[in-house]
Amino acid sequence: MTTYRTLNPEDFALPEWHPYMIGSVIPRPIAWVTTMNKEGQLNLAPFSYFNVFSSKPPVAAFSPSTSARTGNPKDTHLNLLEVPECVINIVPYALAARMNITTGEYERGINEIERAGLETIPSVVVRPPRIAGTPVQMEAKLRQIIPLGENPGAGQLILVEIVRLHLAESILNEKGLPDPRKMDVIARLGGFWYARITPENIFWMKQPRNPAEILAWHELPQDIRESQVFSAADIGHLLAHRPPNAEVLTKLPAPTQPEALHREMKALLPERAEEAWNLYIRTVQSA
Ligand SMILES: Cc1cc2nc3c(=O)[nH]c(=O)nc-3n(C[C@H](O)[C@H](O)[C@H](O)COP(=O)(O)O)c2cc1C
Repeated sequence: MTTYRTLNPEDFALPEWHPYMIGSVIPRPIAWVTTMNKEGQLNLAPFSYFNVFSSKPPVAAFSPSTSARTGNPKDTHLNLLEVPECVINIVPYALAARMNITTGEYERGINEIERAGLETIPSVVVRPPRIAGTPVQMEAKLRQIIPLGENPGAGQLILVEIVRLHLAESILNEKGLPDPRKMDVIARLGGFWYARITPENIFWMKQPRNPAEILAWHELPQDIRESQVFSAADIGHLLAHRPPNAEVLTKLPAPTQPEALHREMKALLPERAEEAWNLYIRTVQSA
């Protein structure tokens, strides 16, 4: 059985607690945020306390903390108070090293875009530019800043509304949607670890929409539950395609050659889950 270590955040100071926060919620996407101060000086910095939270209105949020080192707000936060616009660029693996240059806590007004040798593309609606070479760029306008505390390390949650979405043609599928297999983007893990999103390390598992189509775990025959042949995603597809006669499943005798049968079923997944179930029921009933 898994044993757990249970921690109370109140028992830890920031430097000891922070690694648990960034190590526990992984992977985290990275917002590589372009902003501008009122003098028009540009700033670029990565933030992995980041996600999107609403589709319509399209709202993203990221959270620059009050600096643990200086106790001051981050330049990105200060810039948004002066020019309430930004671009969130999504970081590809190819630009990972350049992103690392832009995380330095440089003096305000230092242009990390230049330091990292990056090129920009003018934005359509907002003043800060997009970063060339990134697969996705979101032009956004400030909606709200929610201070989560005053102390060093306290996040300043910045909610922005996306006003333009730019997608590199090279990442689109035949329907014009972003294809995760073509994006090669990075995500932040704990410590100094990152994940790279490539075709080999992602999987596809269709989301069942209709509750009537979803089998309960206990309705799944034991040999399938314990199979070494099926992947977690395969089982996900079988569970999401409840056969019309599902009530027979748990009453059926166990297959005589489960592994061979599972391999035949697996060959039909993910597209032909119904056929896989028919094959299972037919084979077991005829044995
Ligand atoms: C991948 C990555 C993710 C980061 N995520 C955050 C974050 O979510 N919040 C934060 O305050 N700092 C984060 N940092 C550190 C900031 O990038 C760093 O403090 C930066 O200097 C802030 O820049 P600015 O002062 O120009 O806004 C992250 C650094 C890296 C490399």
